[in-house]
Amino acid sequence: MQIRLTKHGGFCFGVKRAVDLVQACALQGAVSTLGPIIHNPQVVADFERQGVKTVQNAQDAVGTLVTRAHGARPEEYIQAQELGLNIVDATCPYVERIHQMVKRHYEQGYQIVIIGEKAHPEVIATNGWCNDQALIVYNDDDVVGLHLPDKVCVVAQTTIMASRFKQILSLLRPLCADIVAYDTVCNATSKRQNEAIELAREVDAMVVIGGSNSSNTHKLAQCCEMVCSHVYRVETAAQLPLGELAQFNIIGVTAGASTPDWIIKEVVSIMNELDRNEEVKDLQSAQEVEAADQTANTADDQAAAQNEAAATVESVETMEDDTAESSFAEAFEKTLVRIKNGQIIRGTVVQVNDNEVSVNIGYKSDGFIPRSELSSDDVNPTEVLKIGDEIEVEVVKVNDGEGNVLLSKKNIDNRKNWDKVIALIDEGAILEGVGKEVVKGGLLASVMGIRTFVPASQLSTRYVEKIEEFVGQPMRLKSIEVDRSRKRIVASRKVVLEEESSAKKKTVLDQLEVGSTVDGVVRRLTDFGAFVDIGGVDGLVHVTDLSWGRIQHPSNVVKIGQKIQVVITGVDRERERISLSYKQLQPRPWEVAPEKYPVDSIVTGKVVRIVTFGAFVELEPGLDGLLHISQISRTRINKVEDALQVGDVVQVKVLEVDPDKKRISLSLRAAQADDYEEAAPQQEEAAPQYQQVEEEVPEYTSGSATLADFFPKMDDQE
Ligand code: F3S
Repeated sequence: MQIRLTKHGGFCFGVKRAVDLVQACALQGAVSTLGPIIHNPQVVADFERQGVKTVQNAQDAVGTLVTRAHGARPEEYIQAQELGLNIVDATCPYVERIHQMVKRHYEQGYQIVIIGEKAHPEVIATNGWCNDQALIVYNDDDVVGLHLPDKVCVVAQTTIMASRFKQILSLLRPLCADIVAYDTVCNATSKRQNEAIELAREVDAMVVIGGSNSSNTHKLAQCCEMVCSHVYRVETAAQLPLGELAQFNIIGVTAGASTPDWIIKEVVSIMNELDRNEEVKDLQSAQEVEAADQTANTADDQAAAQNEAAATVESVETMEDDTAESSFAEAFEKTLVRIKNGQIIRGTVVQVNDNEVSVNIGYKSDGFIPRSELSSDDVNPTEVLKIGDEIEVEVVKVNDGEGNVLLSKKNIDNRKNWDKVIALIDEGAILEGVGKEVVKGGLLASVMGIRTFVPASQLSTRYVEKIEEFVGQPMRLKSIEVDRSRKRIVASRKVVLEEESSAKKKTVLDQLEVGSTVDGVVRRLTDFGAFVDIGGVDGLVHVTDLSWGRIQHPSNVVKIGQKIQVVITGVDRERERISLSYKQLQPRPWEVAPEKYPVDSIVTGKVVRIVTFGAFVELEPGLDGLLHISQISRTRINKVEDALQVGDVVQVKVLEVDPDKKRISLSLRAAQADDYEEAAPQQEEAAPQYQQVEEEVPEYTSGSATLADFFPKMDDQE
């Protein structure tokens, strides 16, 4: 047995597209189709097994709603939108174009006439685009007695025979002076029909594969029956009349536009195994009755179809020469996009995965955007695009070497973003960027996807040791150089920081009040003081304002990073200088001295100065006590240095504290005495002497400046 297949068969462009869309949507979540996606029960059942739901109404839809290849009515889109459904339009582009033509002509006052079957979903949907006002005719009888208005627009169901369109149109023309006719019979349909007729002439039997509800499969079978006596129509391999087929030497096979490849392969494979074996003979008798029935059924239509067959072939031939008639196939071919490298084009996303996006650009094949061409930033395509999105793309290569159209969205976005960035620069605005990559001499940042160079010296107001710390960090930049022809931008972060700091400083300065207390953080220490950040601006606490006593270095009092409170003592707004005091908020040593150094307590101090009548012992910065020579030792000493040296740390007994006069009298001798009874009389003895001295030096304070004044007078007393 010899099996011959037609060149074209199985899925047409529109059906394949619809099936691919449902498949892609099913991978991403719940999907419903508005009616069976195509006229093939096996494909629909297969989708249902994958969880795809077939609904008759958008209200019953779950997840994404995909319209069928035959198209949908306008109110169905509106309803789906009102329900907030994600709609993926799988209407065959050929059919969609008919909808547009019908709508446009209806709005221009034309009476629409559809040559097709009233109950066919495609015709029902098309009628919806002219508010259900179309006249639908299929047979010659439908035209008899028809009254047409002045302006008529005629379209055809895409799957009817071309000959039928011509026949009915010829009957309509005399009824109206102004007829605009579009031969919208799909090229895929007529091609299949013509090939099927040619093949059917040469074979003993024809097998036509397709859904029992498929209009185009039904017409295909009719075409074959016009020239072949043995035509068998099956949905699947299981319906093959094997016994009957076994008797033929040459069998032709064709398939309707909604028949999937796997069913065609299955049918051909079973027929290949047939080859008149015994098993087939057994089957033959069992299937004889069914075959007889089918022959009888097809015989009824054969006579009527016979005439149509001749007409079909003729019409195709005529159509090739007939330039006056508007051929939909040709018109559609004209609408197919022609593309070239660098062209900008709009398209619809038909598939998305982690690495690329497929886009229908109306070209004969879909284009694809690799992840690297989607955006300047590395983004996952599934996070930014979804099926059905309309996007603008640039054709990078019409053929990438493997027959694919290479597209880029990034190039278009970059061009648009360049214009936006330049507009911002012209306004003097701040640019929001993100650090991307360390390069020689600085950092490459991305501003709306535009590469922007930031020199290392412009990254911060301070020296930057590790440029890589800025990678991935958002940053505010200001352009400092632009080369528009080469599309290069040099920007500075430092300029922005300085401007912001200056503005902040001005605001803070305006708000500062001398005498008020503010919170601050110690930022920097120098020999002459501490710089304290008081909310965006730094003020200086001079070393003399850090402590009531004398200190060697600011670090003796505060540390970098320490949070402190300070009093504002001066604001020079012109020179932007702020003077602060830390010590004003610290207790004055003399105020707490009586509690801190009670009389008779033993305290530790350091000898800081020696004079002829004694030694001054520092108990804490700013608080010195006098150790009179008579209180240094229990034995007589000629001079202080015999017992003490500057820097000695001594334990002394507090004899008297007078905060008003800022005096503390100390006794080393008393502290050392085992017997305090013994020390006491001497203490009493010494005290009047000291009292007498102090009366003459009323300004004795613990500060070194006043002590310096005090010492000579004490010396005089000695
Ligand atoms: Fe479209 Fe023609 Fe197929 S109209 S669905 S490509 S038969």
